[in-house]
Amino acid sequence: MKRARKPYLAKEEFYTFFKQIPKAELHLHLEAVISRQTICRFYQRRHPDATAEQADTAITEMFTYSDLNGFIQAYLEVQDLYEDPSDFDYVFADLADYLVRNGICYAEVFAAPSAFIKKGWDFSELIDTYHRNVLKIKEETGIDVRLLIDVSRTFGFENAEKNLQLLLAYRIPEIIGIGLGGSEQKGPAKLFGNVFDKARKNGLVTVAHAGEDAGSESIWDSINILHAARIGHGTSAALDEELMQTLAKRKIPLEVCPTSNVFTQKYVKSISEHPIRTFFDKGIVVTLNSDDPLFFGAELLDEYWNMYSQTGFKLKELKQIIHNSFDASFLDEDKKRSFNELVIKKWKKEKI
Ligand code: ADE
Ligand code: ZN
Repeated sequence: MKRARKPYLAKEEFYTFFKQIPKAELHLHLEAVISRQTICRFYQRRHPDATAEQADTAITEMFTYSDLNGFIQAYLEVQDLYEDPSDFDYVFADLADYLVRNGICYAEVFAAPSAFIKKGWDFSELIDTYHRNVLKIKEETGIDVRLLIDVSRTFGFENAEKNLQLLLAYRIPEIIGIGLGGSEQKGPAKLFGNVFDKARKNGLVTVAHAGEDAGSESIWDSINILHAARIGHGTSAALDEELMQTLAKRKIPLEVCPTSNVFTQKYVKSISEHPIRTFFDKGIVVTLNSDDPLFFGAELLDEYWNMYSQTGFKLKELKQIIHNSFDASFLDEDKKRSFNELVIKKWKKEKI
C-alpha cells in the first residue's frame, strides 16, 4: 500500500506544530533580543521629555542600516542607552519571553560586554547579573541558557584579551566559552589566534562569526588559525567548493542566520537564494538561528517557516536541522540524546 504523502502545512499550523517541538538556538545575541518596549524605556529615561511617539520615531531611525557595519553602529547606539548592569534584568526577561514564544528548550547566547567595560562598568557586577538571570530563567521556565562572551572583532585584539582576562578572573559555569562577532572587515581572524588558544587552554569553547561580511578566506582562517568549533553564518563558503567539502568532512557546523544575511546584504539578496540549501545538500551540519531578532524582525520560528515556504526544505529535513541544533551544541552527550529523543516523541505524537 502506498503511504500517504505528508501534508503541506499552512502557516498557522506550521507555527503551532514547530513551537511544540523542542529546539536549540545556538546563534542569538543577548543585546539583540531586547524588546522594543525595553529600548523605549531606556530611551525615555535618557530623554525624559520625549513622548512615547518621539521615542518610537528615534528608535525607528536608529534601526535604519544596509550593511553589517551600519547594523553594528545601531547595535552600539542601543547599548549606549543602558545605564547600569541591572538594566540587563529587563533584557533577560525579554530573552525568557523570546525563548518560550519560540519553543526553545536550550540556547547558547552571545553576550557582548566590550561597550559596557568601556563605559567603566564593574565587570563583577555584570557577571553577577548574567549569572542571576540565567538561573532565574531556568527556575521560571525550565529553559537552559549558556553564555558565550563575544570578545568582538570591532575593538581590536587588546580589547579581546582584556575581555578574556576578566572572564577568567570572574568565572561562572554558565559562561562556557567565547565567540568572535563584530566587524569582520575591521578585525581579521589572525589577530585573535592567541586569545582563542588561551581560552581553550582554560577550558572554554571557541566559536567565530565568519564569512558573513568577508570571503571564504575568513572562514578558512577561523578554522585554521582560531580553531573555532563552529562557524557563525559561513555564507561565503558557498563560493568555495573545497571549503564546503572540508566543512562537511570535518563536521564543522554552520550557525546559519538567513534573515540576518538578507539584511546585511553582502552575499544574499533574498531568502530564496540563500545557500543554506546547498550547504545542507552537501552534507554540512547546518543549524538555523535568528541572530538579532529585534533588529532584523525575524524570530526562530519565522526562520523555520521561511525555510519551509521559500527554500523548499521539507518537514523531515527541518526535523534533521532541529536534531543538528542539539548535536552541534556544547551540551554533553546524554543531554543531546535526551533532547533528540524528545524531538522524536513530540514529532510522532502529532503524527506529521
Ligand atoms: N553582533 C551582533 N550581531 C552580529 C552579527 N550578525 N555579526 C557580527 N556581530 C554581531
Ligand atoms: Zn551573530
